[in-house]
Amino acid sequence: MRSIAREVNEDNVMSIFGVGIRPSIRLTWISVLAVIIFTTIVQAGNAHAQRPELAATPPMGWNTWYAFGCHVTETDVKNAVDALASNGMKASGYEYVNLDDCWQGKRDKEGHIHSNDRFPDMKALGKYIHSRGLKFGIYSSPGPETCGGFTGSYGYEKEDAETYAGWGVDFLKYDWCSAGKVYKPNQVDLAYEKMHQAILETGRPIVYSLCEYGMDAPWLWGPKIGANLWRTTDDVSNRIDFQEYARMMFVAFGQDGLQGYAGPGHWNDPDFLQIGNRGLDLDEDKTQMSMWSLLAAPLFSSTDITKLTEAQLAILTNREVIAVDQDPKGIQGRRISQIGPVQVWVKPISRGRTAVGLFNSGESPLPASVNFHEIGYSHPVHVRDLWAKKDLGVFKNGYSTTVPKHGVVLIEIQ
Ligand code: GLA
Repeated sequence: MRSIAREVNEDNVMSIFGVGIRPSIRLTWISVLAVIIFTTIVQAGNAHAQRPELAATPPMGWNTWYAFGCHVTETDVKNAVDALASNGMKASGYEYVNLDDCWQGKRDKEGHIHSNDRFPDMKALGKYIHSRGLKFGIYSSPGPETCGGFTGSYGYEKEDAETYAGWGVDFLKYDWCSAGKVYKPNQVDLAYEKMHQAILETGRPIVYSLCEYGMDAPWLWGPKIGANLWRTTDDVSNRIDFQEYARMMFVAFGQDGLQGYAGPGHWNDPDFLQIGNRGLDLDEDKTQMSMWSLLAAPLFSSTDITKLTEAQLAILTNREVIAVDQDPKGIQGRRISQIGPVQVWVKPISRGRTAVGLFNSGESPLPASVNFHEIGYSHPVHVRDLWAKKDLGVFKNGYSTTVPKHGVVLIEIQ
C-alpha cells in the first residue's frame, strides 16, 4: 500500500489525466484519485503505526494450555484472572489472559464460530478480563482443525477475525496444526497473511502470534505479514516424559543465532514458562525465567496460578529480572561462551548496562566466570545479583562465581 502511494507522484497524475480528457471529468477523476491517495496514505499509516505500539516490549501474560489443556473451562480462566489481578503478577507486567485451544464449538449457517459448552459467553468473558485491567487472547488455526481437533479458521478468516473483534479479543495465537492438509509447503506465509489482513480489516489492534514451531523460519517472513511474535521451536514440554529441564535447555540454547530477528514489535517465542508445573525445581525455574528474559522472549506463565507456592510466585514476579526481558531496547541476548555444561549469555540493556547469565546444566555445582573486556567494558564495573537482589561491589576485569546444579547466576553490570 505504501508503495502505491509513493508511485502516484505528480508526473504520473498528469500523464494519466492529461491530454484528451475534458476539464470537468479531469476534476472528478482528480478528486477520486485524491480520495484514493488520502485513504491509502491513512491506511498505510495505520498499518504502520499499529505495529510498533503493539508488543513494543515482549508480551507478558498467562495462557491456559499447560495449566488445563483441552479441559479448560470459563471458571478456570476467571479464577486465573482473579489470581493474576491480586497475586502481584498483573502489577509485575503480566497482562494478557490467553485462552489456548479447545474453546471452539460449531459454526452456524452464516459461518460464524461459536464457543462450546464450557464457554457460555465469550463476550462476557472478554468483559470480565477487561474489567480487571487485563487483556483477552484467543487461539485458532489457519487449517480446518486445530491441534486439539476443534474447528479452525480455514475459509472463515474474515468471519473469525470479526467475531474475535466483537468479543473484545486483543491477542490471537494462530497455530499451524492441520493447515498442511490445505496449503502447499510454500504457502505458509500466505496462510498467515490471510488472517493478518482479516485482523487489519477489523480495525481492532490485535497482537498476532504465529505458531508453526519454527518449521519455516518464521523469523524471516513473520514481520512482513504483521506477526508480533512467532514460535521458534516445538513445544517446550510434551507433558509425557516430563524431562522438563533437558527439554527447556534444548529449546533455550537453540535460540542462539536468532538474536538478529527480534526487536520492538516482533519477537522470537520459545514457548511458555513452565514455573509451577510438574518437573522443575526452584533453581530450574530461575534458569527458565533468566534465560527467557535474556532472550527478550514473551513471558507467558502457563500453569494453574491459583496453586503457585510463594517461592514460585517470587520467581515469576522478580521485577529486576522482568526488567531485563522488558528492556525498551528490545535486544535479544546471545551466548558468549560455553565450557562443558557452563554457558554464559549476555544481553545489552539500556543506559550502558548488560545482563549476564551464567548457567550450569551439569549435575553438580560448577565454577563460572565472565570477562568484562570481552563484552566491551574496559573500566571497573558495578555488579548486581538480580536473584539475590544485592549489589556485589565493583569488579575490575571480570566476575567469577559458583553456579548450582541446573541453576543460574544472573547479574547486571554497569
Ligand atoms: C500445539 C501448540 C501448543 C498448543 C497446542 C494446542 O501443540 O504448539 O502450544 O497450542 O497445539 O492444541
